[in-house]
Amino acid sequence: MTYLLALDQGTSSSRSIVFDQDGHIVAMAQREFRQIYPQPGWVEHDPKEIWDTQLATAREVLQKAKLQAKDIASIGITNQRETTVVWNKTTGEPIYNAIVWQDRRAEPTCAELRQQGKEKTFQQKTGLILDAYFSGTKLKWILDHVPGARESAQKGELAFGTIDTWLMWQLTGGQAHVTDVSNASRTLLLNVNTNTWDEELLQILGVPREMLPDVKPSAHLFCHTRADLLGASLPVGGVAGDQQSALFGQACFKPGLAKNTYGTGCFMLMHTGTNFQLSANGLVTTSAAQPTATPEFALEGSVFIGGAVVQWLRDGLNAIKASGEVQQLAESVPDAGGVMFVPAFTGLGAPYWKADARGAIVGLTRGTTVAHIARAALESIAFQSAALLQAMSRDAVAAGGSPVAELRVDGGACVNNLLMQIQADLLGIPVVRPKVIETTALGAAYLAGLSCGVYKNLDELSAQWQVDRTFRPTLPRARAQERMAQWEHAVRMTTAP
Ligand code: G3P
Repeated sequence: MTYLLALDQGTSSSRSIVFDQDGHIVAMAQREFRQIYPQPGWVEHDPKEIWDTQLATAREVLQKAKLQAKDIASIGITNQRETTVVWNKTTGEPIYNAIVWQDRRAEPTCAELRQQGKEKTFQQKTGLILDAYFSGTKLKWILDHVPGARESAQKGELAFGTIDTWLMWQLTGGQAHVTDVSNASRTLLLNVNTNTWDEELLQILGVPREMLPDVKPSAHLFCHTRADLLGASLPVGGVAGDQQSALFGQACFKPGLAKNTYGTGCFMLMHTGTNFQLSANGLVTTSAAQPTATPEFALEGSVFIGGAVVQWLRDGLNAIKASGEVQQLAESVPDAGGVMFVPAFTGLGAPYWKADARGAIVGLTRGTTVAHIARAALESIAFQSAALLQAMSRDAVAAGGSPVAELRVDGGACVNNLLMQIQADLLGIPVVRPKVIETTALGAAYLAGLSCGVYKNLDELSAQWQVDRTFRPTLPRARAQERMAQWEHAVRMTTAP
């Protein structure tokens, strides 16, 4: 049997998973690390903790799987995207903490660039909007605020990387400074049509070219790890940002195939083939994981508060003791009793982009109970995702394609059958849950397996992807549309006064 090792470096934990070549999970290890909040709106990680926890889980998972490094055909890396690290090329020391994708400190820079009319330039080259979410303006912040950083960068002494790049630097003892297209496409610095760093964008943000990693396709022999780390030197053969990796792990290789990952937030991506297509409906365009040198794209939308609304029910409202109790509580009532819950705790993301919106619970009556609110909270995850899918379908049709025909789901909350049924009812299309829901890690393993010949082609991977359960819509369409209209009405009520 051949094995693949996926390193899945996420926002709150580092995980390692060993898959066999049939895509089954053999073993898994996970470690959390610190979240650092120096000021309101700022979020940082210690890059060394990221590396230490990642390496520890890689060692642990080999032990759990009772395997040795030589049994692993290749490593795939997938990671939280946009998070920005800058380090000294000689010492390997980070010059500042990693600035996490959730961090809002670069917003003033974005506002200034928008005012200068630069939004179109960035959008046409990168597919992204000018938002503090992406790496480029975080990198500018580090160069502007860490004493001596810009001069050092200009002399070629510093390296920039997203988390994939940082991990490969560590895995090779500073030999590899490289990234893949899907991670690079989240930096605001990459021309996604040519897959090269863009001189004009680098100039606008004042980023020296010398500090940027080489950009490679997602299935590629990126580097070999130091032999002393895992017991033998191993090839790193696949790299992708976590959301693009999940799209790949869901075997969404063709235009129109879409997935939604239900985590703390929700990330929905639809493959759009080789055509760079800008959204007219509030989504961003991003590079898909690319097994070859041919650019491939996806439309993406994110829901900021997805599963996190259940945490709020537990910690903020004390309505449940453990997250797992939510399904039972929500099922204790036949519906939400007219309650609508818009969890705009940190504003609303795509397709609304209302940064100043705040949460609202509307439609309360004397008969409302905590069970109705729990049900409305679950429904809010499905409503927000449905609004994204509608936007995607509109974009797909505008580009001459068909509306999305089914939604593939993964992430922790997709095990909640009630939520999945509500989702199917609102969407009016089947919601399909695969047997392996660790699709983020699986995508990275697939990419690694492709580049080292464990898999021959994408057809082989499509054949391996298997359905656990399909949730079919049961609600009449007219009723679903009425419910979406009620949702949109509630969203309008979240506008800050
Ligand atoms: O864009 C941010 C995303 O990549 C983070 O994903 O799963 O680490 O929260 P996750």
